[in-house]
Amino acid sequence: MNISELARSVPLVELRGVHKNYQMGEESIHALKGIDLRINAGEFVAVWGPSGSGKSTLCNLIGLLDTPTAGAIHLKGQDVTTLPDNRRSEVRNKTMGFIFQSFNLIPVLSALENVMLPLQIAGVSAKVAKQQALERLVEMGLERHKSHRPAKLSGGQQQRVAIARALVSAPALVIADEPTANLDSENAVKIIELMREINNKNGTTFIFSTHDQRLLERVGRQILMHDGEIAEDNLFEKPEAFRVAGVSR
Ligand SMILES: Nc1ncnc2c1ncn2[C@@H]1O[C@H](COP(=O)(O)OP(=O)(O)OP(=O)(O)O)[C@@H](O)[C@H]1O
Ligand SMILES: [Mg+2]
Repeated sequence: MNISELARSVPLVELRGVHKNYQMGEESIHALKGIDLRINAGEFVAVWGPSGSGKSTLCNLIGLLDTPTAGAIHLKGQDVTTLPDNRRSEVRNKTMGFIFQSFNLIPVLSALENVMLPLQIAGVSAKVAKQQALERLVEMGLERHKSHRPAKLSGGQQQRVAIARALVSAPALVIADEPTANLDSENAVKIIELMREINNKNGTTFIFSTHDQRLLERVGRQILMHDGEIAEDNLFEKPEAFRVAGVSR
């Protein structure tokens, strides 16, 4: 095996036998029950399933926002399961962008300033940060709104600012936990299509969770969670459908 073959064979994300228990007083909740999962660079993955099935728990573990009770998590072949907190945030800042259900924009900053923020925290000069943030906003069709604060934007527009912010540091992986839950169906579709466009254009890997089965039509890989387990992963059922956008279930 040569080096480029080896590089291709190492998944971006790998979970091996991952369990997560939450302790609630006397009660222990077994939220993930032995997840084995490999996600390659460039994939566009939806995690779906009913409330309480473990979607957010899975996103939080992959995003290094929480640690598993048992099992291992590897990122680009590196075991990140037991990294100390400072190393975890370093890996997170270097590798990942996050999009949240409630947009999580900073209310006193303009759209442009919100998008600039991750770069400025990383020590990029204001001039360069501004230029790169503006490029991301233009990509999201929001140039006209760059000076607006979040309260002056619609939900769909706010989420597009949040996507621009998640992408501004050029992460390999974007994790979006229910990014469309607070949007109407038209805007929800628009957000998924924008993410898909970025995925196609830049090869950015996306993992997003959703309740909404209608959004799955636009997604190559669909992982169905049920009661803390992967009940279905369509990549392994019908691989020929993997590359076909708009495949119907
Ligand atoms: N911080 C926590 N403390 C205790 N239990 C938790 C915690 N977070 C999640 N759980 C429990 O773990 C299980 C999985 O929850 P999780 O939030 O991952 O589900 P989900 O699929 O994201 O649900 P939803 O669709 O409602 O967002 C549920 O039984 C939930 O009650
Ligand atoms: Mg959730």
